[in-house]
Amino acid sequence: MALYSEKVMDHFRHPRNVGSIENADGVGEVGNAKCGDIMKMYLKIDGDIISDVKFETFGCGSAIASSSMATEMIKGKPLAEALQLTNKAVAEALDGLPVHKMHCSVLAEEAIKAAVQNYYENKSK
Ligand code: FES
Repeated sequence: MALYSEKVMDHFRHPRNVGSIENADGVGEVGNAKCGDIMKMYLKIDGDIISDVKFETFGCGSAIASSSMATEMIKGKPLAEALQLTNKAVAEALDGLPVHKMHCSVLAEEAIKAAVQNYYENKSK
């Protein structure tokens, strides 16, 4: 079996929702101290719906594929649903990641949570 699934390769080669959002309602940036990879998520919120989401990932192919898939999974969804997205669900949607690459999908979960939290912080100011 190939190390990476077709879906991982597809999202790595053609990542969805790459970039930044000007005047984003929530921004979350997380990193992994061990590998040094960094992921940044931008959210546009309408009511309690994520109307737009973009990411910038300075990291490995699995981190790029995970961010791409994660943005697809939360776009158009309520905030509460996005908060429930787990790295396992992202990895499953990618038809799996090698065990030593699971931490890359954790970045996606954490970046979304950080961006949502930032949105709530901005809102309460
Ligand atoms: Fe660190 Fe993939 S190797 S995020």
